[in-house]
Amino acid sequence: MSSNKKLLILPGDGIGPEVMREVRRVVDWMDRRRHVSFNIEEGLVGGAALDAEGTPCSDETVARAKAADAVLFGSVGGPKWDSMPFDKRPELGVLRLRKDLGLFANLRPAVVLDPLVEASSLKPDLVRGLDVMIVRESTGGIYFGEPRGIHTDAKGKRTGIDTEVYTEDEIARVARIAFDLARKRRNKVTSVEKANVMQSGRLWRAVVGEIGKAEFRDVELEHMYADNCAMQLCSRPKQFDVILGSNLFGDVLSDLAAALTGSLGMLPSATLGAVDSSGRRHALYEPVHGSAPDIAGKGIANPCAQILSFAMLLRWSFGMEEDARLLESAVEKVLGGGLRTADIMQAGMARVGTSVMGEAVVRELDKLSA
Ligand code: IPM
Ligand code: MG
Repeated sequence: MSSNKKLLILPGDGIGPEVMREVRRVVDWMDRRRHVSFNIEEGLVGGAALDAEGTPCSDETVARAKAADAVLFGSVGGPKWDSMPFDKRPELGVLRLRKDLGLFANLRPAVVLDPLVEASSLKPDLVRGLDVMIVRESTGGIYFGEPRGIHTDAKGKRTGIDTEVYTEDEIARVARIAFDLARKRRNKVTSVEKANVMQSGRLWRAVVGEIGKAEFRDVELEHMYADNCAMQLCSRPKQFDVILGSNLFGDVLSDLAAALTGSLGMLPSATLGAVDSSGRRHALYEPVHGSAPDIAGKGIANPCAQILSFAMLLRWSFGMEEDARLLESAVEKVLGGGLRTADIMQAGMARVGTSVMGEAVVRELDKLSA
């Protein structure tokens, strides 16, 4: 049994640690039943790291993340740290990891599982079978652009500044990820920007078009203004396959797409870096939902997004496609069997807490692999 799969687990704040506990059950199951063994380390991030180490993500944590084959991340933030100065916010933990590990491509699937069609705010026909992948650029744009800050002039009047800036190489590398993904799906990329008002948007449209023409002629490419995309996502979401956007537009549209599925507690994500010469790539996996401080500690959070993030990790970092699918089917079966956490509760279903859900997934894994 090889134990060369090195994972760094960063549960973070709020419901992070509770849902991560359920992933550990799945990891243990994989150890026992699938003859893969993971070498697991844990670390602190976000508010938990601020409390213990005075910073939302220490240099040591970054070094450990770089040394790991993959990082499994929970969620960060909570009211306790709301009054922290801007440069000490828990959210900086994940932003630093993205930046320092070069994790430029954030993959956010928005999938409606059959048992949850009714959970969507849209009519069942509009979302049944929905499977959209948002590819969000995640180390550039307005999140990191300079100049930024709040400046006060001689009269005491303040000006807030952020800068949207993209180089063509930054656009090209994330575009390639989106095109590649589309080839494995329904072969269509919708690239979003505001080329009608933004210079960086004009460049975005031009570069994505050039990459498409030069390297991915077989993939259908459509350009769409980001605001129109938001509207189309709500009215006709199934027209989309892969949506490619900047850090900010991807952030906004991925929340919107997640809400369409009606179950934020179900959605995983992966953030990937470039493949290096030895074939390795840094990667971080996290649920789309946040730390949900209002329900933290109550044992009622939905562990599925965290568990499905682990499935993405198996697929993307270790090429364990079969195990990833097994885990995804186990989650779907549990829902099909009528178990629901509070966030996805429906009439006639059985309401359960975090650990019962986790145990049920493991039982389903047993059955599926029997
Ligand atoms: C996300 C979150 C983060 C972001 C925050 C927590 C910094 O909204 O991952 O979508 O804006 O990227
Ligand atoms: Mg967000």
